[in-house]
Amino acid sequence: MRIGVLISGGGTNLQALIDLCQAGSVNAEIVLVLSNVATAFGLERAKRGSIPTQVIEHKGYDGRGPFDKAMIQALDGAGVDLVCLAGFMRLLTPEFVRHFSGRLINIHPALLPAFPGLHVQQQAIDAGVRFSGATVHFVDEGMDTGPIIAQAVVPIMLEDDADALAARILKQEHRLYPLAVRLFAENRVRLIDGKVEISDCAQDPEGAMINPPC
Ligand code: GRF
Repeated sequence: MRIGVLISGGGTNLQALIDLCQAGSVNAEIVLVLSNVATAFGLERAKRGSIPTQVIEHKGYDGRGPFDKAMIQALDGAGVDLVCLAGFMRLLTPEFVRHFSGRLINIHPALLPAFPGLHVQQQAIDAGVRFSGATVHFVDEGMDTGPIIAQAVVPIMLEDDADALAARILKQEHRLYPLAVRLFAENRVRLIDGKVEISDCAQDPEGAMINPPC
C-alpha cells in the first residue's frame, strides 16, 4: 500500500507512521510527504527516513481550488492508495475530498463527534468531561464529521491544562494512527452505509473505564 502523508508542522504522527512502515511488519510504504509549510519539521523527519518530500505552499496559489489541484497532482503522481492527514492545518475543498473518497483519513485529538474543530483539548476541559482522546476517521466534506475508524480514550485529570491534556492524547495518537493504517494495509477496513466495519477484531465488552477511579 502506497501512502501519502500531508503535514504542516512537527510531524510526530508522521514519525509514528514512518516507524510503522520501516519496521517491515506491514505491507505499506510512505511514498510522499507533502507539506504546505516549508519549515515544517516533519519534512526533516521524512528526509531522515529517505522518504520523498514536496512543499506546496498555499500562499503561492490563488485560492483553495488551485492549491488542492496541485496537491492532487502530486499525490496522484506518486500513485498513493491512502492519504493520511497528520497535523495538516488547511481545510480541503470538496473536490479534493471527493477525489480521494474512501482513501483519505485524519487523526483528531478528541473523541469525535464531540469537540470538532480547533482548540479541542481546551474545549474538553471547559466542558468538564472526564475522558477525552483521539479519533482516526475518514474525511468527508464536513469538519471532522467523517466515519470513525478507531479511537483511543484518555482520562482528564482535575489539574490538567490544555497542554497537559494534549500531551497525554498525543502519546496515544502515536499508537492509534499506526494501528489504523495497519488495518488498511491488511485490507480490514470497510465503509458500509456510512459506518466503518473492521474485520477479524477482538472485542472486549468489559473494557469500561471510570474516572475518577475513587
Ligand atoms: C495532532 O494532535 C493531531 O491530532 C492534530 O494535529 C496534531 C499534529 O501533531 N490533527 P504532529 O504534527 O503529528 O506532532
